[in-house]
Amino acid sequence: MTSTKTVIHVIGARPNYMKIAPLMEALRPVSGIRQFLVNTGQHYDEAMAKGFIRELQLPVPDRDLEVGSASHAVQTANVMIRFEAVCLEQRPDMVVVVGDVNSTMAATLVASKLLIPVAHVEAGLRSFDREMPEETNRIVTDRLADLLLTPSRDGDENLLREGVPKEKIHFVGNIMIDTLFRHREAARLDRIRDRVQVADGQYAVLTLHRPSNVDHPDTFRDILEAVNVIARDMPVVFPVHPRTRNRIGELKLADLVSRLILTEPFGYIDFLALTSHARLMLTDSGGLQEESTALGIPCLTLRENTERPVTVTHGTNRVVGTQAANILTGYRAALADRGQPRIPELWDGRTAERVRDILAGTLLG
Ligand code: UD1
Repeated sequence: MTSTKTVIHVIGARPNYMKIAPLMEALRPVSGIRQFLVNTGQHYDEAMAKGFIRELQLPVPDRDLEVGSASHAVQTANVMIRFEAVCLEQRPDMVVVVGDVNSTMAATLVASKLLIPVAHVEAGLRSFDREMPEETNRIVTDRLADLLLTPSRDGDENLLREGVPKEKIHFVGNIMIDTLFRHREAARLDRIRDRVQVADGQYAVLTLHRPSNVDHPDTFRDILEAVNVIARDMPVVFPVHPRTRNRIGELKLADLVSRLILTEPFGYIDFLALTSHARLMLTDSGGLQEESTALGIPCLTLRENTERPVTVTHGTNRVVGTQAANILTGYRAALADRGQPRIPELWDGRTAERVRDILAGTLLG
């Protein structure tokens, strides 16, 4: 008889919750595996964290590390110090990390030094842009992880090119799309009518939070100038990330957002209601590039590169940069586009089951 194996799942920031939720659900009926949920608290607001955890029916975390906001080094170090104590106490047989946030890398470093196997869900993505802090997190996490679970074939190729042995790499598809498909039906536009009055398919959604965009006044201003031109054609709804809200104040950009519909960040299903009924998305987020592709809604990515090229080759995404003229060229092309986007391979709502089978096979033999 095999003894029960303990798996620690790590969540920390807004884009993590929708990736761990379907996996914990898929693993629940597997006998012989005990799941333990650690929330690092990298995000902590009701709107950025707590509401998501409840809404996605994640269990109440077994441990809250409460690290909060800080510089990269301090935040990473605090996760490491506190997560090490949890690992020493719980003696897990595996640690599961997702995505590319600071908590992902910090937990991986800790587990790796304690010789605990690490599974990385969303492995292999690369923007090849070290100015993004997430690129460092991805590289370090993938270098140390034992199981690399990739969302798209380009992830496998990147890892193989970096010398990762083939046996460690498993192409499983995009787990976030499991969560999207599960909640799509509930995401009706009338859920959010109390906050935004827009007509189905006749508005744009804007999200911005990357330091490379909102911490640089010229870049932020250029983006907003283009968005103001778009706002003459259709309403633009702009749920504002806390970092971005602070910068709008500090950089005195209130005039440039006065024609947009500003809101607080939405919960998961409300945000899906907003995006899934939009005509267009404008974003610098990684997750939204993928969600727009799964929803078949045109997306303009306000960055110079993407670590998710499959959203461009298969999906609805256009990487347009941050200069106003280029954003507007992309905008016109997106509206005129009559092409048929394809859903990328294995973005089928069943990724969590594939990950479950790989984890169970590894742990239980
Ligand atoms: C982090 C991730 C990023 C992810 C994003 C999603 C890293 C390096 N970055 O960036 O990959 O796309 O989350 O949102 O891990 N704040 C609050 N309440 C919160 C959280 C943050 O007010 O619950 C404010 C704080 O002022 C903080 C700022 O937002 O300083 C930025 O938060 P931080 O977690 O440092 O980075 P994000 O930009 O959210």
